[in-house]
Amino acid sequence: MSHHVNSSHHRSALGAALEWYLDQELEEMIGDVPVDRTRLQMALSQMVPAMNIAQGFSEPPQASLADEIKAAPPAGAAKRQAFLGKSDAREEAVRLAKEASTLEDLRAAIESFDGVAIKKTATNMVFCDGNPQAEVMLVGEAPGADDDRQGKPFVGVSGQLLDRILKCIDLDRMAEDPKKAVYMSNILNWRPPGNRTPSPAEIEVSLPFIERHIALVKPKILILCGGVSAKALLARGESISRLRKSWHDYKPLTQELGIDGQEIQAIATYHPTYLLRTPAQKKAVWMDMLSVREKLDS
Ligand code: URA
Ligand code: URA
Repeated sequence: MSHHVNSSHHRSALGAALEWYLDQELEEMIGDVPVDRTRLQMALSQMVPAMNIAQGFSEPPQASLADEIKAAPPAGAAKRQAFLGKSDAREEAVRLAKEASTLEDLRAAIESFDGVAIKKTATNMVFCDGNPQAEVMLVGEAPGADDDRQGKPFVGVSGQLLDRILKCIDLDRMAEDPKKAVYMSNILNWRPPGNRTPSPAEIEVSLPFIERHIALVKPKILILCGGVSAKALLARGESISRLRKSWHDYKPLTQELGIDGQEIQAIATYHPTYLLRTPAQKKAVWMDMLSVREKLDS
């Protein structure tokens, strides 16, 4: 099948892609140059304002980029956080999720849930951002420090990268038009301390909530952002590098919720926090985003 991208969209997407790749060069420079602060600062002061003017986007402060990379957990750093009565917690999550018939009900139900210990260390519950009418729903892993402070997903440095990536395919979480909008949530609704990887028990207990969330939003397309989200919602053990690229039929796994006849096209891709540390993988994410654009246009 030929692609359906019209030429004006095509041009703006190319412009945005160029912006993204320029940015990648900047990040690679920061990563590769032996730390010579003066040279780095000079280079940044010359490049960033020039790019802002030319490309019309603003770069986040470099200090917070460095902080977020430092804060990112090393791979496989998941520590199992014990919490009481896992099976009771799951049962309670299923009951609450099942009773929720609107997004506001679901938000209130999750606020009232005491089944995970991460709730105690978090500042805010993080439910969603974006337009619930959107054709595209994106599911990440868990809130980070900035998200926890603001009570919204993907508002930190990796969230800003995510917004630039989405803009490359003409999507924007602030858009009112459902065809251009994105709705976002995460597998976990609270930030794990120190941004550690969610434990299998936390994922299991959270699944009824995110599955109900997806059923209430009924998006046309799901973007599963990162390995934790992809493995949890597709019930697959393969790595994200194997799960990405192709389309999957997402079907709800929590049978007790009784969500019938729902099948949503889902694509998995790398997580923006991973891209901040591994910019060479941006090309792979770009290919995944082109598949999303094509699916939306077909
Ligand atoms: N912020 C989120 O809300 N989710 C992620 O997975 C990462 C950062
Ligand atoms: N590991 C993950 O969990 N997600 C990614 O995006 C990349 C590596």
